[in-house]
Amino acid sequence: MTRPGVDQKGCFPEAFRAELDLLMRLRRDVRRFRTDPVDEAVLTRCLAAVSLAPSVGLSEPWRIIRVESETARAAALENFETANAAALADYSENRAATYARLKLSGMRDAPVQIAFYCDDETEKGHGLGAQTMPEMRRYSVVTAITLFWLSLRAEGLGLGWVSILDPEQMSRDLDVPQGWSLVGYVCIGHPERLSDTPELEQEGWEQRFAALPVETR
Ligand SMILES: Cc1cc2nc3c(=O)[nH]c(=O)nc-3n(C[C@H](O)[C@H](O)[C@H](O)COP(=O)(O)O)c2cc1C
Repeated sequence: MTRPGVDQKGCFPEAFRAELDLLMRLRRDVRRFRTDPVDEAVLTRCLAAVSLAPSVGLSEPWRIIRVESETARAAALENFETANAAALADYSENRAATYARLKLSGMRDAPVQIAFYCDDETEKGHGLGAQTMPEMRRYSVVTAITLFWLSLRAEGLGLGWVSILDPEQMSRDLDVPQGWSLVGYVCIGHPERLSDTPELEQEGWEQRFAALPVETR
């Protein structure tokens, strides 16, 4: 199959590759959002990337819930605040003081909020690749969120992943079917600011590896 811009060997042009690299470098986890709305057409375009993601056995186990109602948003925020307070209580002294300063969700401001679920019981894909490692279905959802994240970034939008949550409480609050598991609750909107450094690095919580930890066996 040939595509304009892709050469005979299947390589994309160098300028494109440089831009793809830049997109990956400038993707950030965003927790500080402006409150102005996100264009629905842009959101739809970015969500289309989910359907392009790889999935074990082509199971496409992602299930998407847009969290829109005041009640659902309030329950999600309360869920986060409870889990975050419990997490803080688990750290001691200096770590606790740093943790308390971090902003770990944009749930108060983000105009769009989506819960990504995995249907652990889907028959799509006929179990291929998931017999010994059923968690592969959830990892497939992670790959989809990653593509969505990059598409949003390319449109100037930010995504912030919130995992400081009680997933069972969230599933009750959102009334999801049995057999679905929460993979990621994501906040989306226009970022208040852009940065090429992870916020957790800026806040002194953690640093990126200086070198990739690759070993040989
Ligand atoms: C699976 C997953 C869960 C995460 N959960 C949270 C979270 O609950 N709160 C938060 O502030 N950031 C969360 N993050 C964002 C990470 O902190 C962030 O990706 C990391 O610090 C690197 O920063 P960067 O994404 O801007 O490169 C999560 C990221 C991933 C991939």
